[in-house]
Amino acid sequence: MLSLETRRVLVLGGTHEGAELARRLAGTEFADIEAITSLAGRLELATLLPGRVRTGGFGGAAGLKRYLANQQIAFVIDATHPFATTISAHAAEACAGEGVALLRIDRPAWNIPPGTRWIAVDSMDDAAGALEGLGRRPFLTVGRRGLEAFARLEGVRFLVRLLAAPAEPLPLIDYEVVVARPPHSLGSERRLMEAHRIDVLVTKESGGEATASKIEAARARDIPVVAVRRPPMRNREAVAGVDAALAWLRERL
Ligand SMILES: NC(=O)c1ccc[n+]([C@@H]2O[C@H](COP(=O)([O-])OP(=O)(O)OC[C@H]3O[C@@H](n4cnc5c(N)ncnc54)[C@H](OP(=O)(O)O)[C@@H]3O)[C@@H](O)[C@H]2O)c1
Repeated sequence: MLSLETRRVLVLGGTHEGAELARRLAGTEFADIEAITSLAGRLELATLLPGRVRTGGFGGAAGLKRYLANQQIAFVIDATHPFATTISAHAAEACAGEGVALLRIDRPAWNIPPGTRWIAVDSMDDAAGALEGLGRRPFLTVGRRGLEAFARLEGVRFLVRLLAAPAEPLPLIDYEVVVARPPHSLGSERRLMEAHRIDVLVTKESGGEATASKIEAARARDIPVVAVRRPPMRNREAVAGVDAALAWLRERL
């Protein structure tokens, strides 16, 4: 049971913003808030987060709605990745159904430096199509689950950056893996691209500061960037970052 003064906020995380929210909500300013961070449980490091952490899917929108009721959640902050569209849709449905206030954190898009050779596409398949003829040493920074689209590409050697070493061989003909977690400095991105003679970068248009340096590094090397556009998230109350999300919460306490 919650005391009358304490209110629970569920942070849907798995991102930098989610981790930052967990840290800030654990501070004394939010003594009347109990924050629960929710992680999908794939590659996130739950042990690094302060406060309560729960891991694993809820079982769809209906499962999340039940969770909100059982845990007496007063607010949900959806700080999930811009491409994590399923959980965000479930959050919208469950919060509407349960009458719980929902706020979405929408990361600001990257500022594309002038002179960047930017090729925007709508899907991972389109990104694979766009690669033909662009380069022979593509740097793939699209996550493990985006790789199938590139499975048939021959005559290229991919550099694939992942958060953890893959348990199984990747579905690519010729590749090398580098394991690293953001944030990445501009210097390390430049060194990595130089060491591997990268001649094209493939990315999701995720935005945010933690991964922006690869765009600047690509521009500095004058190599093209194939960027998969963000899926739209409509009809949500949204703010651009953690500070604004905490201000939203303060107004409601
Ligand atoms: N997609 C990316 O490029 C990307 C990049 C970096 C980090 N992440 C993070 O990784 C997680 C998974 O991303 P995704 O693209 O696979 O998500 P997704 O496609 O939107 O969600 C798939 C399913 O995973 C579960 N899930 C996702 N996020 C969850 C969370 N924070 N807490 C509890 N369950 C969650 C839900 O299962 P149920 O239906 O069973 O509830 C959801 O239906 C997200 O939390 C996201 O913030 C994603």
